[in-house]
Amino acid sequence: MLLVLGAFFYVFSLVDGRLGDNVCSNLLDYATILVNNNCWYNPDIYASPESIIANHGYYLQTHTVTTEDGYILNMFRISKKPTFVAHRKVVFLHHGMAADSVQWITFGRRSIAFLLADLDYDVWMANARGTANSDRHVNKKLGSKNYWNFGFHEMGVYDLPASLEHVANITGQLGEIVYIGHSMGTTASYIYATEKAAHANKHIKGIISVAPIAFLSELKSPLFLMVPIIKPINTFLNTIGIYVVNNQKPAENLKPCLSFPLIGICLGFWYLIGGQSTEQSYEDVPIYFSNLPAPVTTKGLAHYSQILLKGGRFQKYDYGLDNFRIYGSFIPPVYDVTKITLPVHMFYGLADTLAVDTDVLTLFNNLRTRKKSMQVIPTNTSIKFSHFDFITSKHIAKHFIPYLQIKIQEILNT
Ligand SMILES: *[C@@H]1O[C@H](CO)[C@@H](O)[C@H](O)[C@H]1NC(C)=O
Ligand SMILES: *[C@@H]1O[C@H](CO)[C@@H](O)[C@H](O)[C@H]1NC(C)=O
Repeated sequence: MLLVLGAFFYVFSLVDGRLGDNVCSNLLDYATILVNNNCWYNPDIYASPESIIANHGYYLQTHTVTTEDGYILNMFRISKKPTFVAHRKVVFLHHGMAADSVQWITFGRRSIAFLLADLDYDVWMANARGTANSDRHVNKKLGSKNYWNFGFHEMGVYDLPASLEHVANITGQLGEIVYIGHSMGTTASYIYATEKAAHANKHIKGIISVAPIAFLSELKSPLFLMVPIIKPINTFLNTIGIYVVNNQKPAENLKPCLSFPLIGICLGFWYLIGGQSTEQSYEDVPIYFSNLPAPVTTKGLAHYSQILLKGGRFQKYDYGLDNFRIYGSFIPPVYDVTKITLPVHMFYGLADTLAVDTDVLTLFNNLRTRKKSMQVIPTNTSIKFSHFDFITSKHIAKHFIPYLQIKIQEILNT
């Protein structure tokens, strides 16, 4: 009898221990996740930024700023030591569309923010307006139409000035900050550096663009077929009172993508959006879909599609009949990147379907700043990075960080 009871509890404890497993090394293992030895528990999945950072032995400060137009944003700053030593060189990281600052910390020891903190940089991470950690406004309600009336233009013109001013104030590194953007984070930086040029020149020392997007003329992805219909869809959604594609916390959205069999299909979509990749492992897939997508406004999507439909003209938002009232011209003005005088260094990948190499080259050719460069990553071109590999690649420490560090130092030494 005792033996039976003992055996029962033994088996029960095994099963119980496995109930928490949430990642596996292969697709098929997910089918049997509860009893599979190739699966384990990753405590960072669905964890708060606070606990992810603590799980890996780093320290977090949260800084709150209010933009000129009333959006209340939280920035994260991490450190290897409990004290946040001033006078270190500051890197300011800005995430892409549908993402937030979690992208820089959620890949365990190989997360970019941790690797940069290990190199002794003072690491700051922005959370754009509307994301889970920056979802307040001084008087607009989160659910309201007014709240979601923004795109990446407003991030460049309002979020970045307020955020960078605060970083400069706290760190004493005015004019010494290195801006590192990924995807939409790069678009926002070009808008900041052209529309708020004096502010940018005063506050940051240079721009590093990872998978840069400005002169968006093509998508090497089947999504390209959707572009012509985004504008009518946007108009339609606005008519029925929808201004944001998804305003839930990421954790609520893609839960089915975390388990078999949908996990395989969801990864297929992921490749469809950002490009096929050989750099990703199945154990990371639940990480993507537990953190994505952050809210995406219809205005931001429509703005990118307008640029695409104009053959890559890097122009302001097209308000149609209201253009004349807003801009004094019938055609939206361009963001004049020829006026950027800060150093700009760009990294791009050969399997990237969004930041396509020809568009990166167009941006490079349009820049007139004296210090500029573009570099394919990885330097071993038999491996090709997708749009997301710059964040998610399992070889980030080898293929990307050393080159990133060289460019950070190059900017700091100019
Ligand atoms: C930064 O400091 C200046 C001067 O003390 C102050 O006017 C400004 O409001 C501060 N900005 C932020 C965002 O803290
Ligand atoms: C480049 O990558 C390929 C594919 O992983 C590998 O076989 C090759 O050895 C690498 N070349 C160098 C010079 O590292």
